[in-house]
Amino acid sequence: MSVTNKLYIVTGAAADSDIGLAICKKLDECGARLILVGRREQALNETLNQLEGSSHVVSPFDLCNLQDIAAWVKELVKQHGAIDGLVHSASYQGYSPLRSISPKQINQYLDINFSAAVMLTAAVSKAKQFNPGASLVFIGSAAGQRGLKARTLYAASKAALTSMVQSAALELAAKKIRVNCVAPAVVSGKKAEQQFATLGEEQSQKLKDAHPLGLSKPQDVANSVYFLLSDLSRNTTGVTLAVDGGFLAG
Ligand SMILES: NC(=O)c1ccc[n+]([C@@H]2O[C@H](COP(=O)([O-])OP(=O)(O)OC[C@H]3O[C@@H](n4cnc5c(N)ncnc54)[C@H](OP(=O)(O)O)[C@@H]3O)[C@@H](O)[C@H]2O)c1
Repeated sequence: MSVTNKLYIVTGAAADSDIGLAICKKLDECGARLILVGRREQALNETLNQLEGSSHVVSPFDLCNLQDIAAWVKELVKQHGAIDGLVHSASYQGYSPLRSISPKQINQYLDINFSAAVMLTAAVSKAKQFNPGASLVFIGSAAGQRGLKARTLYAASKAALTSMVQSAALELAAKKIRVNCVAPAVVSGKKAEQQFATLGEEQSQKLKDAHPLGLSKPQDVANSVYFLLSDLSRNTTGVTLAVDGGFLAG
């Protein structure tokens, strides 16, 4: 199954999200139909304006409203037809040193990074909501695969995705739905620049040096997402694919 004419929900699709935008552009180039999701309608329309295809739509929605996700997905299917797949790129990113952690902060990370992913998986995999061969892809992080100072909450929320895709892959194999994760390390772009500004010159250089092949580009992540959505990966499910310039090999 190529992605041409297939219908995908892409969360975190705002034009100012380097990775979300790159994913939308890649899938658009390959002829997919997209439902662009994020909280800010204007930022989604800015992405829409950069795409060639004429059948994409925007659906502004706050995915932290976990209890509303099932009804929202049902309505999307009613309006646009059954879903061929999902890319969950929306996230909350940041540093959370243990000395200043609060219960509210835990939810801030878990709600969007993990709980929304679970609710999306449950909603899309309900009878009549998906087409055979559907593929669900979650954007995790190399931070979820190894310890990083001051990243307890972000890292744990992304590690939870790696675990979730394994169990969901087993449960959904009978429905021929594949479930996978893509785990980038630092990706060049606005978020990386912010991260380097926070860390200072010396720590930033150390972090860059921990990527033997250099930082990934947003397009590298988008290419792996394309692979996991398409039939090129038809027999791959339950995996976390690192796109990390060798970060995890060290
Ligand atoms: N950048 C990196 O170096 C890097 C490295 C490893 C992994 N990642 C992962 O890659 C993905 C994309 O990263 P990025 O840096 O390009 O992301 P980003 O710029 O932070 O974009 C995140 C997007 O999520 C949307 N979002 C946040 N909360 C939401 C909510 N409650 N409901 C709906 N949408 C919500 C935001 O749009 P609205 O504000 O309009 O809602 C935004 O467009 C993330 O999952 C991130 O964890 C990034």
